[in-house]
Amino acid sequence: MNNKETFEKTKKLLKKHNQSHLLAFWEQLNASQRRNLLAQIEKLDFAEIDGWVADYVKKSAAAPVPVNFAPPPFYSLNPVGPGQKRKYNQAIELGRELISAGKVAAFVVAGGQGTRLGFDGPKGNFPISPVKNKTLFRIFAEIIAAVSEKYQTVCPWYIMTSPLNHDETKEIFRSNGYYGLNEKDVFIFQQGTLPSFNLDGKIFLADKDCIACSPDGHGGSLKALYKSGAIEDMKRRGVEFISYLQVDNPLINIFDPLFIGLHALDEAEMSSKAVIKTGPKERVGNFGLVDGRVTVVEYSDLPDELAEKQNPDGSSVFRLGSVAIHIINRTFVEKLNAGGFVLPLHRAVKEIPHIDQHGNFVEPDGPNSVKLESFVFDALPLASKSIILETLRSEEFAPVKNAAGVDSVESAKEMIVARGAAWLESAGAAVPRKPDSSVDCLIEIAPSFALEKDDIKTKLCKIPEIKPMDRVYLA
Ligand code: UTP
Repeated sequence: MNNKETFEKTKKLLKKHNQSHLLAFWEQLNASQRRNLLAQIEKLDFAEIDGWVADYVKKSAAAPVPVNFAPPPFYSLNPVGPGQKRKYNQAIELGRELISAGKVAAFVVAGGQGTRLGFDGPKGNFPISPVKNKTLFRIFAEIIAAVSEKYQTVCPWYIMTSPLNHDETKEIFRSNGYYGLNEKDVFIFQQGTLPSFNLDGKIFLADKDCIACSPDGHGGSLKALYKSGAIEDMKRRGVEFISYLQVDNPLINIFDPLFIGLHALDEAEMSSKAVIKTGPKERVGNFGLVDGRVTVVEYSDLPDELAEKQNPDGSSVFRLGSVAIHIINRTFVEKLNAGGFVLPLHRAVKEIPHIDQHGNFVEPDGPNSVKLESFVFDALPLASKSIILETLRSEEFAPVKNAAGVDSVESAKEMIVARGAAWLESAGAAVPRKPDSSVDCLIEIAPSFALEKDDIKTKLCKIPEIKPMDRVYLA
């Protein structure tokens, strides 16, 4: 087909789907800009887009929570009874074997925009450790190096970026010498994007030859892992289990033998860690069971009567909050992609810069558009088996979402210090505390020193003497 024919065909297609404005500046474009724009339009599936506009852009109501949403079974923090105690021990042993055999890879999703944090650059480059100011990427790299050393293996690391931060992320890794890891064991790839819409369902133009797009959500990782060749790379290396984490959690325990082992013993395909929510309305996803499948319902979609429903002992029925920590089988991702799976989309009303019908650049001063995303936890019900393991927030979950307040830089730093203090106290150290019992010094424990509490006792040759306001760094 020649250029003229392609143009005419595209024009007709856009007219049919009410998106003709995408070619509004055609006459002003040069040949390469025209090719560029046509290539972007060609990638869009307009029948699918019509469905999104009807279901998500013009409609704001979320799908109702299924009537049979029930509390899910889960493995509690401590085993219940001798049978389960044996199972936990067996799981820890199996988890260690799987890590040692190189069957577990780290996978961080780092393609988000990090708007709430307001940091210029990839969030993984945000300095967070309280004494050494290590960035999130450096902390994960040190965990991976320490695990590889502890288990005498190579743990590959997969990092998902988005077009917003891919080049910058690659440059950060390059200029930091891959944080001491072997470059060939670090696989950085990009997720897909989805077009952004105005509130009437029209796709925005970012420029005269460019459609406005945003990353397709962390759920996009399940396609991107496959499309990028990451899954193929895992297969070549013999990786069977993917340890999924978010870029903004410096307390993450990436290689947890108990979690990996329970998941493997139960022959699960995708599993999750959960924390007990701080209250019925905490802003985290809620675990439940629908038709026997583990399902997460967002806090904003859980009706009050379910959020507040209590057991006879006064505990919340839906008390398990999602912390975005998963083990995902490599074969599960392969199976999903072979079957052309689709995850539901979620809408967020955002401020998206764009050009108007005259070609003028518009920096909106309020929410003007709908951004669509898929969420990774929506793949849980697609798994034939899925387990949930309870964990302690103070040990494993300190999200860096905001510059201040809840889930902020400050709260995450405090939690890193608090966990370090608890680990040191468990080994017999006296940690100075303020009258409100918060820690009165700074403590940072490098992954090379301890990956978990029990490592401390074996590593500490001498109990350190810590004075108020000290800056303690153990490496
Ligand atoms: P968040 O939901 O916190 O979004 O992402 P965000 O974009 O980082 O931050 P805000 O909402 O703009 O402030 C949770 C995790 O999912 C990743 C993020 O990088 C983070 O690790 N993510 C999110 C992606 O990798 N891709 C996406 O499209 C969205």
